[in-house]
Amino acid sequence: MSAIHPVDVLIGRLPKTELHLHIEGTLEPELMFELARRNGVSLPYADIASLRAAYDFNNLQSFLDLYYAGADVLRTEQDFYDLSRAYLQRAHQDGVVHTEIFFDPQTHTARGIPFAVVYQGIRRALDQAQAEWGISSRLIMSFLRHLSEDEGFAVLEQAVPHLAGIDGVGLDSSEFGHPPSKFARLFARCRELGLPCVAHAGEEGPAAYVLEALDVLKVCRIDHGVRSLEDPALVARLAAERMPLTVCPLSNIKLKVYADLAEHPLRRMLQAGLAAMVNSDDPAYFGGYLGENLLACRRALDLSAEEVVQLARNSFEASWLPPAVKADWQRVISGIVGDWRAEQAA
Ligand code: HPA
Ligand code: ZN
Repeated sequence: MSAIHPVDVLIGRLPKTELHLHIEGTLEPELMFELARRNGVSLPYADIASLRAAYDFNNLQSFLDLYYAGADVLRTEQDFYDLSRAYLQRAHQDGVVHTEIFFDPQTHTARGIPFAVVYQGIRRALDQAQAEWGISSRLIMSFLRHLSEDEGFAVLEQAVPHLAGIDGVGLDSSEFGHPPSKFARLFARCRELGLPCVAHAGEEGPAAYVLEALDVLKVCRIDHGVRSLEDPALVARLAAERMPLTVCPLSNIKLKVYADLAEHPLRRMLQAGLAAMVNSDDPAYFGGYLGENLLACRRALDLSAEEVVQLARNSFEASWLPPAVKADWQRVISGIVGDWRAEQAA
């Protein structure tokens, strides 16, 4: 048996932050079948193996079709709790100390599930993970961009009683044909309410959508953003502003944004001075949680210790943790890296 690569050892030891994670995308097939049974929902798959076999996507839309269908098993507050609890347990095992998760309320309210049922189940699991494991978190309500701006306003209205526990808003779902500018008024309203804004942009859609997210929606983070690389002026601006880009490498491969992880621009993004970091997006569908994304990138791109540490530092820098807490985590990273280097030199 070959020894573990020293940089993989370092990856295992570093504290991790996840900034791009859809809670509905953590629904593992086993739990999907269990919830289907519990709620009397019939799934169009004979068993777990045939469901997993369907996770063979051509593009973003082919994934979203399955992802929205899978979410239909989520019915009760307990279901949303169980889903979130399973993710948080897994994240804890991966060394995730802070996580900022998306939820898609419209996927559920459209099926008649009350907003409060969705919110309270997730909230209970997040609060418990903080108390039990010390995992800090933020909750980001994401609007579905294939729906209308008016539908976005309607769900925002339902969120208002719960805004004390909602830390920001996002924009996800089908990118082509649904540019950020479609939601200019909705995001202006969210900013008035004091909600920080992020948006998926430049995943499948063009670099122009990243510009719209910045200039029209006034986001403080871009989710994915890999297609920004097609516009050198945009790259220079993103680097100068240290605008975070929440990159999701295994997602990009599963959704055919890149043919192979060895072609992924993660290293080029770091070299361009971008505040990029690694995230898992929809790990139950894309074949890997955060630790697996990092290890797969290290192998495919032969990332150095410096690059892996830069990714970890970028994650904390881009998080919504208070500055003093970020500084504490940066010191923890320095200590771990120092010990690791001493071991390597011995
Ligand atoms: N892109 C857009 N919408 C999504 C994604 C994604 O990667 N995952 C869940 N909803
Ligand atoms: Zn995403």
